[in-house]
Amino acid sequence: MKKMPIIIDCDPGHDDAIALILAFAQETLEVKGVTVVAGNQTLDKTLGNAKKILSFIGKRPPVAAGAARPLFRNLETAPSVHGESGLDGPAIPEADFKEEPLCAVELLRKTIMESPEPVTLVPTGPLTNIALLFSAHPEVKKNIRQISLMGGGVAMGNWTAAAEFNIYVDPEAAAIVFDSGLPIIMAPLDVTHRAVILRSEVERLRNLGGKVPVLVAEILDFFFEFHRAQGFAGAPLHDPCAVAWLVKPELFIAKPFQVTIETQGKHTAGMTLADQRPWTSAAPNATVLLDLDREGFIQLIIDACKSYN
Ligand code: BDR
Ligand code: CA
Repeated sequence: MKKMPIIIDCDPGHDDAIALILAFAQETLEVKGVTVVAGNQTLDKTLGNAKKILSFIGKRPPVAAGAARPLFRNLETAPSVHGESGLDGPAIPEADFKEEPLCAVELLRKTIMESPEPVTLVPTGPLTNIALLFSAHPEVKKNIRQISLMGGGVAMGNWTAAAEFNIYVDPEAAAIVFDSGLPIIMAPLDVTHRAVILRSEVERLRNLGGKVPVLVAEILDFFFEFHRAQGFAGAPLHDPCAVAWLVKPELFIAKPFQVTIETQGKHTAGMTLADQRPWTSAAPNATVLLDLDREGFIQLIIDACKSYN
């Protein structure tokens, strides 16, 4: 079976960690590399978390550190959601391998240019690394099939009323990516807020036993508490949606929209403005995921965790 080559660009992050676990469990995906960006926490922490998770699940792909801050703005992190470590909750042993001596942009360039098949990018953090890649090496676009990213919100934001965290942190980078001309699949809050895992399903995971299902249950214990306090019925699995679409697109309902990134607004910086007018002549630049078969999605997560046992 031909596998889809992908590179995950992430800022782990509880849901980024689960996205990695989901991706590495798929027979249809070949994860050619993992690049890391500052976002949920500072770069030293997100890099350390990525390597720890990968070591824990027994995968050692090329990993590279990327941007330590957004293109133009000061870094804003999310300790209220992910804790001081960026992955508070479970005690995970230190990583048993080192990152590459290349920066993320260089690892992305090299991996994309050397791939016999066009590569799919899966960004699950701020888009700084991808924007730097396109600015420094526009030739890579020729060998990129698509970008399946978690970011934005059509109906609302989460970090501000208008903006979702990943886009809010680096709107200028997001604008470069959304203007890239490449096919974009966007998993915004509209779908990820429906992609919740319920307490009973977390217990199902824990009861499977085995180190990966138990780790994911412990990751979710922490993530759950924050979201319960915000009135969610469960923990939203934002970042795994960007991976799940590549594996089972039939789980999702999607619509093409032209999405513009607001970089100027006093109250709306980082907003993803989707032109939903039925009569619009604006050409779509993104396939926007709007809803999903929640139970089918959770089953995919549970099956992925089980596959490590
Ligand atoms: C996004 O922000 C981060 O906190 C999560 O990891 C996810 O990528 C959700 O807004
Ligand atoms: Ca993330």
